[in-house]
Amino acid sequence: MGTPPFIIVAIDGGAASGKSSTSRLLAERFNLLHVDTGSFYRQLTSELLRCSVAYTDITAIQSALTNLQLTTRLNGRSAQMLIGGQPAGDEIRGQQINANVSHYAAIPAVRAALLAYQRGQVDVAKQHGFRGLVMEGRDIGSVIFPDADFRFFLHADPIERAKRRAAEGRQDSIAERDRLDTSRKNAPLVVPSGATDIDSTFLTLEQVVEKLAALIAAKIT
Ligand code: CDP
Ligand code: CDP
Repeated sequence: MGTPPFIIVAIDGGAASGKSSTSRLLAERFNLLHVDTGSFYRQLTSELLRCSVAYTDITAIQSALTNLQLTTRLNGRSAQMLIGGQPAGDEIRGQQINANVSHYAAIPAVRAALLAYQRGQVDVAKQHGFRGLVMEGRDIGSVIFPDADFRFFLHADPIERAKRRAAEGRQDSIAERDRLDTSRKNAPLVVPSGATDIDSTFLTLEQVVEKLAALIAAKIT
């Protein structure tokens, strides 16, 4: 028997729609590398804020992004991005980043700085012997991997999503981030054509995972 083909699973959706929890469980089930691209945008935002580069100052952003050194180390099954050798801190999940990240993520130079790095996660997954990767974000099925083997889009009612965040004890700007992410010109949050659209408003996390896992298993086994 030969090596099974490498698979790419793309998961997109709005804020707190369940992307990370679902991706982590799928990664475990199918031996995939888990890549949370939202954490990359958060980390880059944190770095630009640390350097006092405002999202309105495109020239300063471009200059800060020159010579950006991005490498990867594994944290369990998840890819952890290092900027200049440094991992993200806990602040990337805090309110300051929640309030700023979508502004930075709308800037073409910021998206361009992460594009090749994200696609390069295929090599990271292969080097570490994973069977494939599951990448989550806003533009994975539309821009990063439009030819992914599986493309899913997770929906959930905004009120339910706010409740899920609150249950985690976290404050978030869900509606505002969705508004900015959907309305930007460059790689907006859209349901990619041909993607499987799942409304998880009335589903538990386990039910969502079972649905996606069944669709994946049916095609790869
Ligand atoms: O976890 P949550 O869904 O709340 O957000 P996230 O996935 O951590 O993403 C944070 C922000 O990064 C989003 O609101 C987008 O502005 C941006 N993002 C993006 O533009 N493209 C991606 N592929 C992933 C995230
Ligand atoms: O990554 P994203 O921001 O899209 O969402 P998440 O961080 O995976 O999910 C936010 C919260 O909602 C987590 O605490 C999940 O356990 C929970 N969740 C849920 O209650 N029901 C679902 N169907 C999916 C997620």
